[in-house]
Amino acid sequence: MIESYDIRLAAVSDARRIAEMSKNLIELGLGWSWTEERVIRNMRDKDTNVVVACDGAHLIGFGITKYRINEAHIVLFAVEKSRQRNGVGTALIKWIEKTALVAGIGIVYLEARLRNSAAREFYRALGYKEFLVEPRRYRGVETGVRLGKDLWEDAVAS
Ligand SMILES: CC(C)(COP(=O)(O)OP(=O)(O)OC[C@H]1O[C@@H](n2cnc3c(N)ncnc32)[C@H](O)[C@@H]1OP(=O)(O)O)[C@@H](O)C(=O)NCCC(=O)NCCS
Repeated sequence: MIESYDIRLAAVSDARRIAEMSKNLIELGLGWSWTEERVIRNMRDKDTNVVVACDGAHLIGFGITKYRINEAHIVLFAVEKSRQRNGVGTALIKWIEKTALVAGIGIVYLEARLRNSAAREFYRALGYKEFLVEPRRYRGVETGVRLGKDLWEDAVAS
């Protein structure tokens, strides 16, 4: 399938869809914490950006990233089920990585559930390395894995 979509910064009108995708694709079984209001708060935070992939008016993927002085932290990330395995996630991660590098930030961190083998495989394919297993990372009940990537290492190598 040939994907057709644009990548852009999110608007407040995207927040409800992002929150619904978080509930159904990311926070499943953990309780819903990324409500529409929380997504909007993050959009308005000057150290956070929310990027979306849209096919026309339809939002098919998003990423929420917090930027610190030396590192970026991807806190929420998903692609609609029917559009997975078509490179949308990769394109969003590349956008986030490029944005970080342009801002002089070379390290990207994120977390995944240990049992989320699809996400772990996705990040591994993009060069992220697992460096810490955290028991009870999610709501005190589920084990998580921390991953990171050194963008400068990659930039120098290429
Ligand atoms: C993880 C996720 C974001 C991947 O998005 P995507 O758009 O499907 O990813 P891509 O198409 O860019 O995949 C790139 C590569 O990652 C790997 N990959 C992606 N999904 C995979 C899966 N389910 N199983 C194994 N490998 C996978 C593959 O190597 C893939 O390349 P290929 O399709 O040529 O084999 C998506 O599955 C998703 O939204 N999952 C639910 C939410 C979630 O888990 N978010 C992350 C929380 S940390």
